[in-house]
Amino acid sequence: MAELLLLNGPNLGMLGQRQPDVYGTDTLADIEQAVGEEIAERDWKVRAIQRDSEGELIHAIQDSYDTVGAIVNPGALMVAGWSLRDALANYPRPWIEVHLSNVWAREKFRHESVLSPLASGVIVGLGALGYRLAARALLAKVRH
Ligand code: DQA
Repeated sequence: MAELLLLNGPNLGMLGQRQPDVYGTDTLADIEQAVGEEIAERDWKVRAIQRDSEGELIHAIQDSYDTVGAIVNPGALMVAGWSLRDALANYPRPWIEVHLSNVWAREKFRHESVLSPLASGVIVGLGALGYRLAARALLAKVRH
């Protein structure tokens, strides 16, 4: 059964309780379910992994070369997660970077992503809907 990697970085396990004015009230479980609903039409399943440390995220990527594509919200690792970037550079499938909040409308330190140049696409500022849209983008990009 084909699987899509849904990878969430530091502090995203707290969604629902974490600054709901910024990140919304959906929990990570809600988001995982929503992505699962989107990709069910292709009989894909979600491989959902959330880790707070960069090393564990890297291991998750290294162990997921068999997935059809990935949705990645790296959290604050977007700014300086060079090792995460190297891991994603070797990930063999298309992947989409997602941020719930509009990072461009926030503090200056959030205005850079070292990962984005490698992503097939980037979705910011659309809240949990961004994950559904990323799933749809991967359905369109990955033909098999
Ligand atoms: C985030 C944006 C990051 O700047 C922040 O550090 C996060 C969440 C988002 O989804 O909006 O942890 O990636």
